[in-house]
Amino acid sequence: MIIKNPPMGWNSWNTFGSNIHESMIRESADAFIEQGLKDAGYEYLVIDDCWSEYDRDPVTDRLVASHEKFPNGMKAVADYVHSKGLKFGMYSCDGVRTCADYPGSFDHEFLDAQTFAEWEVDFLKYDNCYRPATADCQLLYQRMGVALEQCGRDILFSACNWGTADVWKWIRSSGAHMYRSTGDIQDNFKSFTEIAMSQQDKYGYSAPNCYNDIDMLTIGMYGKGLVGTTGCDDTDYRTQFVLWCMYGAPLMLGCDIRNMTEETKKLILNRDLIAIDQDEACRPPVWQQHPWNANAKCAFKHLANGEYAMAFYNFGDKEYGVPAMLELFGIPTSSGLKVQLTDLFTGEVVGVYRDYVRFQIAAHDCKAFKAKLVRD
Ligand code: GAL
Repeated sequence: MIIKNPPMGWNSWNTFGSNIHESMIRESADAFIEQGLKDAGYEYLVIDDCWSEYDRDPVTDRLVASHEKFPNGMKAVADYVHSKGLKFGMYSCDGVRTCADYPGSFDHEFLDAQTFAEWEVDFLKYDNCYRPATADCQLLYQRMGVALEQCGRDILFSACNWGTADVWKWIRSSGAHMYRSTGDIQDNFKSFTEIAMSQQDKYGYSAPNCYNDIDMLTIGMYGKGLVGTTGCDDTDYRTQFVLWCMYGAPLMLGCDIRNMTEETKKLILNRDLIAIDQDEACRPPVWQQHPWNANAKCAFKHLANGEYAMAFYNFGDKEYGVPAMLELFGIPTSSGLKVQLTDLFTGEVVGVYRDYVRFQIAAHDCKAFKAKLVRD
């Protein structure tokens, strides 16, 4: 199974944690369509941890969906999700228990892959808790990679070992299509900027068919839900979305998509930013930062069509002039080239620049542009 663009979808964990139920999942599938997510390219609806009974079936040894949360079983949920034209994702773990203490897939990989295939699952997030001390993480991901490939159904393999064991070095070989590279995101500015910047020098390993996953987005949570913590405002969320799109990271929403503000919708449905995220060349950005203010950064990304994307970030708590020396992006004065910038939020051409460009940016905010190289 080949995945040519970073996966896009929604996952239950950030907002709902263990508080999941068939009716909420059906409503989310409805919202997925009604709110225009599917039209914008979002595709996978994923149920995270806490979906099963506390024990496996004593006779068949199979995983069993919680009778209370999913009274009609998982196949019925999959059928509903598919009836909306969406793909259905589920969750398991390479250890004996999942992170929230439900049965894990250790030593049951092939049986569980079979069960997921029978339920018509299209995506499996695979976590890393309660792994026996003697079991090697790389080997267990390898094993589930083979189990999924051999289960008779195309199932996207989403690895989640939080960036441990130098995962970027070997994960492509396991058959995974995306891999979590960091610990869990929290809904605050510090958490998501640290997560994003921790991968600055590792994004070169992210490429078609195996993408670096810097976790589910918190956009639109405003402090509510499981990873709510202090919450963010719309400025923070704009910066989060631009960071993820400039990397070409998977875009898995984590807010309650049944109740989104207009600002949230406008942001996550921004077609121009989504196109940057999904760019088929999948090149990581080049970074530069202000000589003495590490909070002022600029990123420059080559796009497949010969154009570029540029983002200016102010991670600081006060407004700041964020500069870019074009020479550091390979555009010296001697090239005779200038950069024409089109704002990705307004669609407006803001100007044509040579050598150097600087934008005043409010605290925590960013600016994102399509950049075209032009001559006089
Ligand atoms: C964590 C994982 C989270 C979520 C949680 C479920 O290990 O990083 O994204 O899946 O487990 O218990």
